[in-house]
Amino acid sequence: MKRIVILISGRGSNMEALIAARDAGTLPVNIVAVISNRVDAKGLETAAKSGITTHFINHTAFAGREAFDARLAQCIDEFQPDLVVLAGFMRILSDGFVRHYEGRLINIHPSLLPSFPGLHTHQRALEEGVRIHGCTVHFVTPTLDHGPVIIQAAVPVLDGDDEASLSARVLRQEHIVYPQAVRWFVEGKLRLENGCVRLAADQAEPPVLIAPEIR
Ligand code: GAR
Repeated sequence: MKRIVILISGRGSNMEALIAARDAGTLPVNIVAVISNRVDAKGLETAAKSGITTHFINHTAFAGREAFDARLAQCIDEFQPDLVVLAGFMRILSDGFVRHYEGRLINIHPSLLPSFPGLHTHQRALEEGVRIHGCTVHFVTPTLDHGPVIIQAAVPVLDGDDEASLSARVLRQEHIVYPQAVRWFVEGKLRLENGCVRLAADQAEPPVLIAPEIR
């Protein structure tokens, strides 16, 4: 069975969705470790309760980004993962780190990239007045929140939405598309080839999800 390492910084609800899919038998994967750069990440507790090995690596204890990333990569590589899954891992990654994991490092971002990279995506979507918002799973490149798109989910922005209601609507979709993307990878249906996504999913599993509220 393919091995994945999940990196988190906080709540860990996307990680939980992956654990739940594994436990439900819909995601054939061995979650070999969960690593956080924050000791108070709630997701660390959740992972440990599920019997998953956890690690905390304090980024503030390192002289710079490269030094932290080198230690992080060393820790990850000890688990020999096939795939590294960023699930709310709120760190900019150095070029060397990203290159080391080329084609086996994926991220989820709470916007329809390339719109709204970075922070506060829901608030910015509301301020811009967009009618459609969503989330994106992508292979990671050295540019923040950028890279070949694997799957996207779209949700409507409704009259009266605030940051909380919109982020909750997007998060529900995140919890669907991230297990789907990881499933494709571990089943050998998804790979990165010359910087492009190659996906061999059947038509029942389209790489775009439209939330029911849009119809
Ligand atoms: C998620 O909404 C994820 O898309 C976002 O952080 C949140 C983590 O929540 N990631 C990014 O913004 C990456 N640029 P979680 O800890 O409950 O999964």
